[in-house]
Amino acid sequence: MSARRIGRRVSANMELDRDRLREILAAEHSFYGSGRAIARIDDRFNPGTRDFLVGRVKSGMRVLDIGCGNGGTFLRLSESSESGFGVDNDPAHICMAEDGLRENGAANVEFRLLDFLEDGDALEPESFDFAFTERGPIGYGGHGMRVALRALKPGGTLFCEMFGNLHHQEQADLFGVNQPRYQMIRTLEKARVAMERNGVDIRVAADILQKRYYPDIYEWLKFQCSIWMWTGSSFPAPDDVRLAMFAEPNATESGEIETTHHVVWVAGVKIPMRSGGAGSGGSRRT
Ligand SMILES: C[S@@+](CC[C@H](N)C(=O)[O-])C[C@H]1O[C@@H](n2cnc3c(N)ncnc32)[C@H](O)[C@@H]1O
Repeated sequence: MSARRIGRRVSANMELDRDRLREILAAEHSFYGSGRAIARIDDRFNPGTRDFLVGRVKSGMRVLDIGCGNGGTFLRLSESSESGFGVDNDPAHICMAEDGLRENGAANVEFRLLDFLEDGDALEPESFDFAFTERGPIGYGGHGMRVALRALKPGGTLFCEMFGNLHHQEQADLFGVNQPRYQMIRTLEKARVAMERNGVDIRVAADILQKRYYPDIYEWLKFQCSIWMWTGSSFPAPDDVRLAMFAEPNATESGEIETTHHVVWVAGVKIPMRSGGAGSGGSRRT
């Protein structure tokens, strides 16, 4: 594969089709509803989150998905788990998850509209063997972690996937979309500290980096609009010079647009309560 970039200069000389840009920017966008943008993925070192999780969930386990989205991952896991619960605070996502459930026919899975950070304590304590989030609301600090651990049985497993600091770094410089690049502490370390301070014995702490190639700037823009919509960021105008400034240095020899997809995985085991208080998993602060 030849992915060497043809230009590193940042100028705005590249000719873009403004009508096409206008059409894409004016279309309806949402996290799941922007129409799937075409992308080629170089995932040679990336096991894929779903595939990784499938191998971790065993029969007899009760599973909690925190921020289940359209339920895609959770429904896949339901094939190997005993039963499970997916929660999300976006009603549109829960509707999609329920549609997926009807199609899938799994009888051991339930979805519920719930803001986990606000109302996660309503879940029965110590009732899940495996809790996970794929870029959902927990991992970034002590509160969400404590709510998740409360729902998890002692000895149960917690898996958090979060956006990494290099995620979409190509567009972050130009469009300034809330990438946590200037944090004093990286996302992975933040999650690791929050877990360790709240009674999790860490077993995985990994940076997962993948390259994604869009056939052209228009396909990339389609994808990026869904992210801007999701993060509440403003869209550029069709004649915004940053679109050309983005396209030029990130184009490969074949004309594809190369981007970086960076997530971190931090996961471990909830330490059972011991006399003396160590590893209580519920009361410490970060
Ligand atoms: C990246 S998506 C999850 C993707 C999903 N696992 C899939 O299979 O497609 C992250 C989800 O977290 C949800 N979320 C964000 N904050 C939340 C909160 N406070 N409580 C519950 N869900 C939340 C979002 O609505 C979104 O659906």
